Amino acid sequence: MLDSGKTEDALLEVTNIEVIYNHVILVLKGVSLHLAKGGITALLGGNGAGKTTTLKAISNLLHSERGEVTKGSIRYRGRPVQGLDPAAMVKSGVIQVMEGRHCFEHLTVEENLLTGAYTRHAGRSEIEADLEKVYAYFPRLKERRKSQAGYTSGGEQQMCAIGRALMSKPETILLDEPSMGLAPQLVEEIFGIVKDLNEREGVSFLLAEQNTNVALRFAHYGYILESGRVVMDGPAAELRENPDVKEFYLGVSDEGRKSFRDVRSYRRRKRWLS
Ligand SMILES: Nc1ncnc2c1ncn2[C@@H]1O[C@H](COP(=O)(O)OP(=O)(O)OP(=O)(O)O)[C@@H](O)[C@H]1O
Ligand SMILES: [Mg+2]
Repeated sequence: MLDSGKTEDALLEVTNIEVIYNHVILVLKGVSLHLAKGGITALLGGNGAGKTTTLKAISNLLHSERGEVTKGSIRYRGRPVQGLDPAAMVKSGVIQVMEGRHCFEHLTVEENLLTGAYTRHAGRSEIEADLEKVYAYFPRLKERRKSQAGYTSGGEQQMCAIGRALMSKPETILLDEPSMGLAPQLVEEIFGIVKDLNEREGVSFLLAEQNTNVALRFAHYGYILESGRVVMDGPAAELRENPDVKEFYLGVSDEGRKSFRDVRSYRRRKRWLS
């Protein structure tokens, strides 16, 4: 079932992982999550909750940050993947789109997309066809394909980063904070494309988002992280209706809308769910 986080149909299974930075800073304190095959799962939480760390633990990108998974296990299609290097993860079908939409600024949009195919040994015509497919999902990228990526807009760079990931023909994309710094309309556009890729191409997504509202509208299942722990999880439709989620993450309560700042200071006072 798409709307479940159950173990049986899990593509990705993270069990009770602990992550330590610089040998001493304990950041993830036993995080478990599942990504169902064909699912969109949202990893939610505020600044510093541990979302990016969780994604990097899965794609084996922690080493360069002096971070280490010290406990627990990560399995993809039932196989342990800890210790694989990021390129091997890409070969097994998992690719991460980093926070802050990393594109190679001095390359054109099209050259950026082509770098995404480097782990494959595909022929020119196959790659051309895949490029056209990416352009079909992101017509804006086709228009800007000859532009230097560094001069394109934030939204186009986010599209370029997702498009480049698609060029590796992934089964699963770990998408970090796709809404960051983008206008609401562009956020909708990008999430709409994520949904299309999920439904039409069967790509599964684990996406980290501070934008709870949009993430829970597009995801099937969600996990809420606070200070390195999962404090709540459930089908997205249920989380959207949960009074605590509404109050603390959707900024809506019986007293009306609250600003994000109010919610955060209120949360600090009330120690949510502890
Ligand atoms: N390389 C690092 N070395 C030490 N501590 C780190 C490192 N990277 C992250 N941290 C710490 O780990 C915690 C979790 O950070 P992480 O980036 O995973 O949070 P996040 O949920 O992605 O936050 P944001 O929404 O701001 O991106 C934070 O307290 C952060 O300061
Ligand atoms: Mg982050």
